[in-house]
Amino acid sequence: MSSLSHACNIADLRRIARRRLPRPIFDYIDGGADDEVSLDRNRSAFDGHALVPDALVDVSAIRTATTLFGQPVGSPLMLSPTGLTRMFHGGAERAVARAAARHGLAYALSTMGTTRLEDLAAGFAGPRIFQIYIFKDRGLTAEFVARCKAAGFHGLALTVDTVVAGNRERDRRNGLSIPPRLTWRSMLSFAMHPRWSLSTLLSSPFDFPNVSHRVDALAGGPMSLFDYIGGQFDRSIVWKDVEWLAGQWGGPLSIKGLMTPGDAKRAIASGATSVTVSNHGGRQLDGTPAPVDRIAAIRDALGPGPEIVCDGGIRRGSDIVKALALGATACSIGRPYLYGLAAGGEAGVDRALTLLVEEFERCLALLGVNDIAALEPRHVRPCGVK
Ligand SMILES: Cc1cc2nc3c(=O)[nH]c(=O)nc-3n(C[C@H](O)[C@H](O)[C@H](O)COP(=O)(O)O)c2cc1C
Repeated sequence: MSSLSHACNIADLRRIARRRLPRPIFDYIDGGADDEVSLDRNRSAFDGHALVPDALVDVSAIRTATTLFGQPVGSPLMLSPTGLTRMFHGGAERAVARAAARHGLAYALSTMGTTRLEDLAAGFAGPRIFQIYIFKDRGLTAEFVARCKAAGFHGLALTVDTVVAGNRERDRRNGLSIPPRLTWRSMLSFAMHPRWSLSTLLSSPFDFPNVSHRVDALAGGPMSLFDYIGGQFDRSIVWKDVEWLAGQWGGPLSIKGLMTPGDAKRAIASGATSVTVSNHGGRQLDGTPAPVDRIAAIRDALGPGPEIVCDGGIRRGSDIVKALALGATACSIGRPYLYGLAAGGEAGVDRALTLLVEEFERCLALLGVNDIAALEPRHVRPCGVK
């Protein structure tokens, strides 16, 4: 049996990924900002919610299907956008998308992804979301909107928690550069993982193919692709820019990186159809509350209509159950599928999704819930409250 089939949970996949990847690359996936308080809290907050089961409910059939971004999905779970995916496995976004499709799940491609959005759409029939930024050059953002429409993307997720880069100290200590280069500090770790190093460093040059044409147009100038993208992040974005994007797109739009009921209401008033409650997996502002602890207040503020996606810290199927009981429409995951990808490519992502979906369904059965629509706040209680 392969080590993948021995993996009983996401923590096992993380251990395999840690063995397979050079340390700087593993830390790039695994790490968070500053003291990693948000990163740890995102996970541990789920332990603060106890599950309260109903007895003697017929759970011979369990309904988990729902809709997200207007599309039918098999489970209320989606794959968050993650940049630089080819660094973790040569199969990159296409491998992730194929595994997501097999489970009937939505997948969001990052602007910083390593696959062209048109190529992803051509090979992925499932619900596809594009993670977009409002760049300084609004023409570049408008171009993405037009390309997403032409390629048949079903929704956009606008990330708003990256006005400046988070302080990822593991990356600084490891001397991690994008694209990866052999520094003295990281050389030993790369040398100890020759399979990864050869396949990744010696394959086609590292690129952000969704943006690279812009820099090709500046050919001959002094600007690298990385400088160009770095220079496009706009610190002056405000709500009227969200209205502008919603007007350009005219379809399902989630604002990713909100933490307060007030911002959630402004998002919907500005034309969004969904909010993604997220602190970027603890990679940006450190010390924030955990997303799961913001869900109930945000649902209260928004009422039953708009989609709320709980993003960050989900490592067990029971975490999804808790977030839904508190009012989320769905959960989204980043690291769990990246650990799977690094551990075994498409089969590893498949394993991660199988584990989470199976755990989710088992948890619903044990909780006495046969339809996710029947999950209610009474199914969870803060630990310590009788
Ligand atoms: C390696 C990595 C790269 C990421 N890249 C992006 C990105 O390009 N755009 C974005 O909006 N979020 C990005 N994220 C954040 C994820 O979309 C998501 O919010 C986060 O991973 C959720 O937390 P979790 O990893 O605990 O599931 C990234 C996360 C990781 C781990």
